[in-house]
Amino acid sequence: MQGDRDVGEKWLLLGGMGRVGRALSRALVEGGDRVLVTGRDEEERDSWGRDFSWAEGVSAEVVDFGSETQAESFVAALRSFAPDHAVLSFGQPDCEGRLTEIPMREFDRCLRDQLRAQLVAVRTVLPRLPEHGLFLLINGSTAVGADGGRGLVHVPAAAALSLARVLAAEQEEPGPRIATLLLEAAVEVPGLPLERQLSGETLAAALRILARRSRREPCVFGLAPGAGLRAVSTTVEESSDLEELA
Ligand SMILES: NC(=O)c1ccc[n+]([C@@H]2O[C@H](COP(=O)([O-])OP(=O)(O)OC[C@H]3O[C@@H](n4cnc5c(N)ncnc54)[C@H](OP(=O)(O)O)[C@@H]3O)[C@@H](O)[C@H]2O)c1
Repeated sequence: MQGDRDVGEKWLLLGGMGRVGRALSRALVEGGDRVLVTGRDEEERDSWGRDFSWAEGVSAEVVDFGSETQAESFVAALRSFAPDHAVLSFGQPDCEGRLTEIPMREFDRCLRDQLRAQLVAVRTVLPRLPEHGLFLLINGSTAVGADGGRGLVHVPAAAALSLARVLAAEQEEPGPRIATLLLEAAVEVPGLPLERQLSGETLAAALRILARRSRREPCVFGLAPGAGLRAVSTTVEESSDLEELA
């Protein structure tokens, strides 16, 4: 059966050549799964290939989801890999600044571009996932970045949270589960104490739990070192889910 843990599963990691994608890929392939990662940079893809040359079942493609043409060209590789699940872990704007001070033109450019790229990735991948699949948006939960930076960089966390809810509400049943996972600590940021870090193994374990859930709501989760995975509940119905995950 596809999606059976005994045979391993196939994960598509969109924006997976970064810190979260690296940690996650390592843990997933060590657990017997297969991984296809995408990133924007050819040199990064080549260095990724060298770093993961020990691992069977890992491949990497260069796709910038800011370009609809590139997204369309990716469909052949997507069909051939036939993922069980997809994880979208990009969305940070490529600019810095305080929300209250950044010039509006700069705000428009960097937020619009990344939110648009997320949406193109969603439209390319979500309709091609199997019914047993999970589509997960990963983002951060705090207004302060792992490096101490503040502000704009975490605006997309709010967008990712809403995006998952809207997509789930729009979806016609049956279809893949759609969820957001908010990371409440750093991943692969050197020099931080362990209690402020999430390991690839913890991330992979959380993903596997989310991929196995029979319930489709709630669709927003938090993951913190020590505290584990929990539903981020905003309604009474959703809060009943907390016990199920404990
Ligand atoms: N790492 C952490 O400590 C941490 C903690 C909490 C939350 N998070 C959240 O987790 C997510 C991933 O973080 P990360 O640290 O892994 O980020 P990262 O290291 O910057 O990696 C992001 C990856 O996404 C790719 N990407 C960016 N825009 C893209 C686009 N338009 N189309 C295709 N690929 C694109 C990047 O490619 P390029 O190399 O070309 O830019 C890179 O491979 C973010 O939402 C972040 O807020 C991270």
